[in-house]
Amino acid sequence: MAEQKVYSVEEVSRYVPKLFGIPTGVEGLDNLFYKVEYVDGKPVKKPLGGYPYLAVLNITGVADTGKSLMAEQFAVRQAGDGYPTIFVTVETPKEFVVQGLLQRATAMGLDLEKVKKNLFVIDAASDHRMREEVDYLLDTLAYGIREYGVKSVVIDSVTGLFEAKEVLARSIVRKVYNFLKKWRQTALLVSQKRSASEEMSAEAAGGYGVAHIVDGTIVLYKKLIMTKYDVSTFNMPIGSVIRLLRIDGCRMAGHDSSTHVMEITEEGLVRIGPTLEEWISGRGRQ
Ligand SMILES: Nc1ncnc2c1ncn2[C@@H]1O[C@H](COP(=O)(O)OP(=O)(O)OP(=O)(O)O)[C@@H](O)[C@H]1O
Ligand SMILES: [Mg+2]
Repeated sequence: MAEQKVYSVEEVSRYVPKLFGIPTGVEGLDNLFYKVEYVDGKPVKKPLGGYPYLAVLNITGVADTGKSLMAEQFAVRQAGDGYPTIFVTVETPKEFVVQGLLQRATAMGLDLEKVKKNLFVIDAASDHRMREEVDYLLDTLAYGIREYGVKSVVIDSVTGLFEAKEVLARSIVRKVYNFLKKWRQTALLVSQKRSASEEMSAEAAGGYGVAHIVDGTIVLYKKLIMTKYDVSTFNMPIGSVIRLLRIDGCRMAGHDSSTHVMEITEEGLVRIGPTLEEWISGRGRQ
């Protein structure tokens, strides 16, 4: 028996974190998360202004849907606001990731000196052991968090941590999740979907149950306009691409549950637009 493992809600309620938003760095996304406050006994929806504080969120989608851009935008925005942030790159060697991060920061008009000072990179892409041994990666991350007072972590991608051992996917993601919770980080985990089936869902092949472990999932999707039906439905020219985003679920805060049209600007920034319904009906277009 371990009687000290039974907690009273009265005691735990003293440690419940405050619910507020951490800016996402993505135009149009901050206010899709909200909380409900009671004014004169009536529920009122209040935008959070970002990802819920201390949430560990999963961004998923097939290749080239904008996952890395969103993850980078969050990291540079946090660093630019003065909050030490670690970007764990599992796919791309650090020089190339930093190139992308600085491009994003420039396009967002952030203070580059501040971004450089507050942003740290762990290069698991160039370190075989770090990709293969999650404990080694987490020890390194713990050092970085302690040493630099880090508040936010991005991992692009967790899929790269279980590439040749997909049966272990859940236990690896669970370890990473528990670690980030223990170290009180607001975090984004990128995960790749390999299958195009059920593209707008968080699951499908490539999801490996990640969505069940984390606090919430954002699904990205792109669709090529290829048929007359698409042309008339989406009112877009044949051969063009429509990009979509949906918050699939979030345990930590209320969220908009509709599918939104998103764009990737010429400068390489993800921007969230109107709902798909508004877009199709023409209301969402300028
Ligand atoms: N600097 C840029 N300027 C314009 N478009 C860009 C820029 N960078 C990326 N893009 C566009 O954004 C798309 C999405 O890029 P991103 O790297 O975020 O995809 P991803 O979802 O991370 O894909 P993967 O699973 O392959 O890592 C790219 O395919 C490209 O079309
Ligand atoms: Mg990527």
